[in-house]
Amino acid sequence: MPKNTRPAEQISAEQAAVEQNLVDTVVASFNNTEDPRLQQIMQALTRNLHNFIREVRLTEDEWNAGIGFLTAAGNITDDKRQEFVLLSDVLGASMQTIAINNQAYKGATEATVFGPFFVDDAPEIPIGGDIAGGAAGQPCWIEGTVTDTDGRPVPGARIEVWEADEDGFYDVQYGDQRVAGRAHLFADGAGNYAFWGLTPTPYPIPYDGPVGKMLEATHRSPVRASHLHFMVTAAGLRTLVTHIFVEGDPQIEIGDSVFGVKDSLIKSFIQQPAGTSGPDGRNLGEQGWSRTRFDIVLAPGQP
Ligand code: BEZ
Ligand code: FE
Repeated sequence: MPKNTRPAEQISAEQAAVEQNLVDTVVASFNNTEDPRLQQIMQALTRNLHNFIREVRLTEDEWNAGIGFLTAAGNITDDKRQEFVLLSDVLGASMQTIAINNQAYKGATEATVFGPFFVDDAPEIPIGGDIAGGAAGQPCWIEGTVTDTDGRPVPGARIEVWEADEDGFYDVQYGDQRVAGRAHLFADGAGNYAFWGLTPTPYPIPYDGPVGKMLEATHRSPVRASHLHFMVTAAGLRTLVTHIFVEGDPQIEIGDSVFGVKDSLIKSFIQQPAGTSGPDGRNLGEQGWSRTRFDIVLAPGQP
């Protein structure tokens, strides 16, 4: 048995009855909740929480450590840092919620985790424009179409894109008001779009707080697989929040720290020889660049 593991505890029928009686009493305390959905959630939360406490036979020290962890998460959370969302992400709870709420629909593009670095009001760029805004990294040409699940183009679909620079930081993490590595654009009349971004590289989620300590204690890496974020909206269609990942990125095999990778979202980013110009004639000098294609399919529904 590994060190520090509690031996399976044989509890008497009498002890089990005491424990179950408490669960039943707490569940019943929500019986008068007017909102049936709130009642369902509180009662299921109670049952599952007690189930967890009973399964691991939680000690009082461990209960205290848990409260300390949640307190630290609260203390580090402000309008720029949301440690509870991070906790939900690394426990896979965010992805599970996304899975439940974005059920596969015909050939619609799959959704993945939103992450904390989206910003409203990112600048608009024309088709073929550049989102880099000075962010460091290898240029990457990204192009594709936006269609519905019947293959009809979605003209004017709004496409928000954002990504980290090659040092692994989003603009908002620099704390100097820069706007870089993010923009929005609109698909043209035939549903086509294209823009310049950066070839995505792996980077860690913020790990200087309690979630980072938990990852360290459990020998888990904070690193996310290389990705580029998209949010696509259009009238009468389900809003899509997703990323594309880079085929061949070793971090996909090692594991994405927030469980966001889906096979259908892994795209080949094809390296282009240094000295060649871009598809729009852009002169990239002696710099190498990459290109990829991402055809986006929106499910029916409300934005
Ligand atoms: C991100 O993709 O940027 C991200 C997602 C979840 C947690 C932290 C960062
Ligand atoms: Fe990200």
